[in-house]
Amino acid sequence: MGNLIRIGALISGSGTNLQAIIDSCEQGKIDGKIVFVGSDNPGAKGIERAAKHKIPTFIVNYDSIIRDFKKDQDKINLPFCFDEKDVISKLSIFPEDTDMQKIKTFVYSRVIAEAKLLEEIEQYPFDLLVLAGFMRNLTPYFIDWINTDSNNPRIMNIHPALLPSFPGVDGYGDTFRYGAKIGGCTVHFIDYGEDSGPIVGQRAFSINEEDTIDSIKKKGLALEWELYPECIQLFAQKRLKIITTSHINGKGEKTYRRVVKIINK
Ligand code: GAR
Repeated sequence: MGNLIRIGALISGSGTNLQAIIDSCEQGKIDGKIVFVGSDNPGAKGIERAAKHKIPTFIVNYDSIIRDFKKDQDKINLPFCFDEKDVISKLSIFPEDTDMQKIKTFVYSRVIAEAKLLEEIEQYPFDLLVLAGFMRNLTPYFIDWINTDSNNPRIMNIHPALLPSFPGVDGYGDTFRYGAKIGGCTVHFIDYGEDSGPIVGQRAFSINEEDTIDSIKKKGLALEWELYPECIQLFAQKRLKIITTSHINGKGEKTYRRVVKIINK
């Protein structure tokens, strides 16, 4: 086995994906090792999972940071290197007609939290950051700190739907309510939009008449636990490459960034 990549993880909840990644590292299915687990949620069960495996953990309590920010906006302490114009111009998670004050409130409060995340993360050098059920949108401030080379993104996420359908916080629920006959999960790199970055891998399952939201969540999670470690291993083997193309359609020119897998390595 060659060198192990260093993997950082961010979680918000139960951490079953985190567990699958920890197990895959321990079983040699991923040439990697988890070097930290952070959470925005002090009650995240996944933190206990990490601690059981003696992985360093930390919490950045987003809820209390956002509450404090809203209570006393005169006292805000934005990080020194935060470039408001740059971050707001890159951010692509809000519809175009969104009120600027709403965007600023979002950006300021998240950047304050992200500066704390970066302070924690700085202690643990890493090659790949995996979001494993991390339920917070990251701003371009944080993303650009991590992705210093845009051709080599290094923040991965798992999403509970077949992107680009059903981005957002409830992928399986939205898939079910829409009446889709096929559901699935997607691993992708993070970009400035909501669940819009280059897709690394996907798995699908069929949705039958007898299915419920709970049963499709079960089917989906079982696939997530296989898919995420496989995608991380492709990263560890340096087999993921981003290709940029553009295409002109009725609405003008659109740029696509897609991941190709390098074979025979
Ligand atoms: C997973 O289904 C994951 O795809 C989803 O949260 C769940 C976390 O479960 N992530 C998102 O919705 C991200 N937008 P886990 O904590 O047991 O791994």
